[in-house]
Amino acid sequence: MWEYTDKVKEHFINPKNSGLIEDADAVGEVGSLACGDALKLYIKLDDEGKIKDARFKTFGCASAIASSSVLTEMLKGKTPEEASKITNRDIARELGGLPKEKMHCSVMGQQALDAALRNLRGEPPLVQDHEGDVVCECFGVTEDQIRGAIAGNDLTTVEDVTHFTKAGGGCTDCVPDIERILHELKESRTSRPEPVKADRPMTNIRRMQLVTKVIDEEIRPNLKKDGGDIDLVDIDGTRVMVALRGACSGCPSSQLTLKDFVEKKLRDRVDEKILVEEVNS
Ligand code: FES
Repeated sequence: MWEYTDKVKEHFINPKNSGLIEDADAVGEVGSLACGDALKLYIKLDDEGKIKDARFKTFGCASAIASSSVLTEMLKGKTPEEASKITNRDIARELGGLPKEKMHCSVMGQQALDAALRNLRGEPPLVQDHEGDVVCECFGVTEDQIRGAIAGNDLTTVEDVTHFTKAGGGCTDCVPDIERILHELKESRTSRPEPVKADRPMTNIRRMQLVTKVIDEEIRPNLKKDGGDIDLVDIDGTRVMVALRGACSGCPSSQLTLKDFVEKKLRDRVDEKILVEEVNS
């Protein structure tokens, strides 16, 4: 039996903001009934462009309902840009924690939010059209999603990956692939060069040099392993504008890649104030 926090129980027993918004400005939908979890998130903006209402319809367990409910509360009053910074860890933290076996519910919340914000920007829904990237056939989980979950949550075991993505939780045929991905990411972590952060105040020129170096030497090679790529488009102070290419462009977890891998890496290696934005170019 899972140990739930009082806040998880509260949001499960009395979910906030359940239902739909008829005239929503954006809708994001993830999961499928076949996989046991599905979430549809509705967002409505006020005249100033801030989120004035967020509602959800979900099919899933207590944690899925609680994650969806608390996410809608977190969204109210935020701008879409502020909302885009919410991660699955933030959702779990807001609930006072989730059993590790249920962390995939917080991931589903973040994915629904990413889908809704994409819809708000007028971008078409991302479709999983590269079947070759699906690692777990039982739950339709792609290699990018597994890599994003590992990188964003410091996962180290197959069991961890199953808790966060469900991959490996069915027939287990995909377990060798999950082990391979874990091994590759561990290798790339242990073989990475020394941090490049400067000990003195960073100049704009120095920041640009370091961002370019980390993208060229550490980020691009990892994305290329999955058939993706990244171009640095512009840098304005701590704002780094990039364009995802190849398999990364149009990938269902591109926002996870952007925030949990690219931004995390640049903050870790160059400047903790860096904000990464995807632009069309
Ligand atoms: S293919 Fe992943 S559990 Fe069956």
